Amino acid sequence: MFAAILESRQMNRQCPIAIDLSGADVHAEAARIREQAPAAQVLLPGGVRGWAVNRHADIRRLLVDPRVSKDAYRHWPAWISGEVGAEWPLSIWVSVQNMITAYGEEHTRLRKPVAAAFTSRRVAALRPRIEEVVDGLLDGLAALPPGRTVDLRAGFAHELPTRMVFELFGIPERSWAPLHKIIKGFFDTTITVEDAQRNAVDMDVTMADVVAYRRAHPGDDITSVLIAARDSGGEEEGVRLSEKELVDNLILLFTAGYETTVNLICTALHELLRHPEQLKAVREGLGSWEDVVEEALRIEPPASYGLLRFAVEDIDMGEGVVIPQGDPILVSFGSVGRDPQLHGAGAERFDVTRETRGQHLSFGFGTHYCLGATLARAECAIAVERFFERFPEAEPAVARGGELPRVASFISNGLRELPVVLGAENRGV
Ligand code: HEM
Repeated sequence: MFAAILESRQMNRQCPIAIDLSGADVHAEAARIREQAPAAQVLLPGGVRGWAVNRHADIRRLLVDPRVSKDAYRHWPAWISGEVGAEWPLSIWVSVQNMITAYGEEHTRLRKPVAAAFTSRRVAALRPRIEEVVDGLLDGLAALPPGRTVDLRAGFAHELPTRMVFELFGIPERSWAPLHKIIKGFFDTTITVEDAQRNAVDMDVTMADVVAYRRAHPGDDITSVLIAARDSGGEEEGVRLSEKELVDNLILLFTAGYETTVNLICTALHELLRHPEQLKAVREGLGSWEDVVEEALRIEPPASYGLLRFAVEDIDMGEGVVIPQGDPILVSFGSVGRDPQLHGAGAERFDVTRETRGQHLSFGFGTHYCLGATLARAECAIAVERFFERFPEAEPAVARGGELPRVASFISNGLRELPVVLGAENRGV
């Protein structure tokens, strides 16, 4: 038995697949791994080896398996020993100490105060504000000279989640420009080690400044709520947060809450622009705007991989593959939406009427399920519906079938730009 496990480990340690850090073709890569084995050895920057898990059923199982941790400080021997450290280009994804890198009771402790601040009442109350921001952005687009090509990522999709996150977290205006730059660098997995390290320092400094500002000027925002929870000294049971945990939780909320939603809005707009028959189906009531959002989440998950998880003990994945204790694990959200076992043949087709459109794991699953899913869904549905109401003749500027450049990342999955000719504005007359 032992010999068989050893043999399977050796077999699976051969020929690791080097993950393409530029994310040039995440779906082809994901399919290759999915077809190979329930878990395949992959190579990350700096020669770090891990296991990619790409099949829907396996990912769902692992995401609720207590033998899987996200805490590098407790469960990644290479991180604990310093063999992998701050100079590793992806170190920021494991060095931060917040809910997304926490395990077990620590996770519960770190998530609780944020979940308490992120109430459904607060999110529901944001709807009119989302509509207002969307309409303001569309007014700006309508004021541009007719016939001009517009980049909808920069001019629309990017602006909405950014403003919502800035407002929700009470970010002072002086921090907006630095944060734009830092978050772009955070998801760019092709930047140099030096730039990644500089970015991590800039992130810490900027977020510490945000906390200092909000501590001095508390408001009705989530940052102020979290500061109050921390400064109360943990009177409320389970709400103890160190200053680092407070800042790191804010870093998470900020980075998770914005680039991903930009990607989602871009995908939904892009798919409807290049598949006019799908837009027609929505207009004819065969699918809803919410269906568009789910299908966009399925076909292009805004986060391709969830970094990083660690095997707390040996995990037998079946088919002779064992993930050894202490090894890093990457779960591929990018792969789930196109898994033919779940979505059948033609999973790569955008179809708002698809029965399995909601069966993705693009917001994760289990204990780390995304806290911002309701907000992101609302932002996307409102943005896309109002855009097509206002610009019913909008056309892609690149011929249909032409490829658009994608974000240089194997984590963030989105279009780098979305050039569109808006056409005449619908003034409702
Ligand atoms: C389309 C937009 C979004 C997508 C696709 C997305 C995706 C995800 C995914 C996949 C996870 C789980 C990661 C893992 O298990 O490794 C996650 C967790 C999380 N997301 Fe989102 N997210 C989005 C928007 C947001 C927004 C708007 C916020 C808040 C402003 C947010 C806050 C969080 C937080 C706090 C977690 C960590 C939860 C935990 O560890 O307990 N996300 N998100």
